[in-house]
Amino acid sequence: MRQDYLVLKHLVKVFGTGEAAFTAVDNVNIDVQEGELVTLLGPSGCGKTTTLRMISGFELPTSGEIRIDGEDVSTTPPNQRPTTMVFQNYALFPHLTVFENIAYGLKIRRRSAHSIREQVENIMQLVGLEGLAERAPAQLSGGQQQRVSLARSLVMEPKVLLLDEPLSNLDAKLRVSTRLEIRKLQQRVGITSVYVTHDQEEAMTLSDRVVIMHQGKIMQIGSPQAIYAKPANRFVADFIGKANFLEGRVGSMPSNDEIVLDILGKKFQVVVQKGSFSEGQRVLLVVRPESVKLIPKMPDTLTGTVQEAVYLGSQMVYEVEIEKNIITVEIANPQEHMVFKAGEEVTINFQEKSLHILPYEEVQ
Ligand SMILES: Nc1ncnc2c1ncn2[C@@H]1O[C@H](COP(=O)(O)OP(=O)(O)O)[C@@H](O)[C@H]1O
Ligand SMILES: [Mg+2]
Repeated sequence: MRQDYLVLKHLVKVFGTGEAAFTAVDNVNIDVQEGELVTLLGPSGCGKTTTLRMISGFELPTSGEIRIDGEDVSTTPPNQRPTTMVFQNYALFPHLTVFENIAYGLKIRRRSAHSIREQVENIMQLVGLEGLAERAPAQLSGGQQQRVSLARSLVMEPKVLLLDEPLSNLDAKLRVSTRLEIRKLQQRVGITSVYVTHDQEEAMTLSDRVVIMHQGKIMQIGSPQAIYAKPANRFVADFIGKANFLEGRVGSMPSNDEIVLDILGKKFQVVVQKGSFSEGQRVLLVVRPESVKLIPKMPDTLTGTVQEAVYLGSQMVYEVEIEKNIITVEIANPQEHMVFKAGEEVTINFQEKSLHILPYEEVQ
């Protein structure tokens, strides 16, 4: 399997010129493996759609290179690229039937009527559209329209499937079930895919790897587990899941992949990447809400005061103040733990294995 099936190399897109020039995509480098599903994830305006449009050819790069299966397609017109795009609004032809919508691209390629029928029927079965061939798009539910849109892309047998927020027009419940369907289908077909979303949960459930973007730049590329457990910077830590930040300083370093962290006058031992920190360095400790345990206040420990305690059935959520820092704590299975009330003093225990340290960054 090719490791570099789709390659984006030093990809840049600048809109406008002179004073009005705006860099929407800023030196993006991604290697997508054959059969992999990679998600571009980031807040609105960070350059996800522009990147996807450059892969599809609807937008030309200002500089940089795009290669698919070894071939440089940077300036190839969209209709000659081995890519197809699934859009957010489905973009179905309202006056054509489901069958005709899916067959449209094959007809343009002048395939025989026989082979078109066979391919369209296969793909309709694959995505679960049997029996709907003669319907008009308006007679379908949102989820079914979404499948037609997906079928219409897949039937072209692209080398790379591009999906731009394909679920955002569905209601919340359908979004969750459809994203699982898309993932299963993608794995069954084994199609290399680039998926754009601003929804982190969607990205986490769907992806082999996630690319976190911010202001046109890549902040981190990694598996869902890696970006959650080892965020590369404050932006990623904040954007993915919930994070508490505590300022600290590197005290001693018992070995070169272990540091003793000084936080609010208390010491914590943390494993870090070799050589990534030095003694005395100012750092940020990233603590996930589920990696904190609360116990009754004990002497010589990190202590705080419960500000809020909210029972949510499956979990208990606390806001705890520690010397003017507020941290959020989530305790799963609250019935198996001691419950604290607002105003109570507690000792805060971190699960040291799940602590993550970043070089200090000012809050933006
Ligand atoms: N055709 C265009 N002309 C000028 N600016 C554009 C154009 N397309 C996108 N932009 C700008 O580029 C930035 C990135 O846009 P986009 O890629 O659509 O973001 P995303 O998909 O991540 O929300 C935005 O600030 C957007 O306003
Ligand atoms: Mg977009």
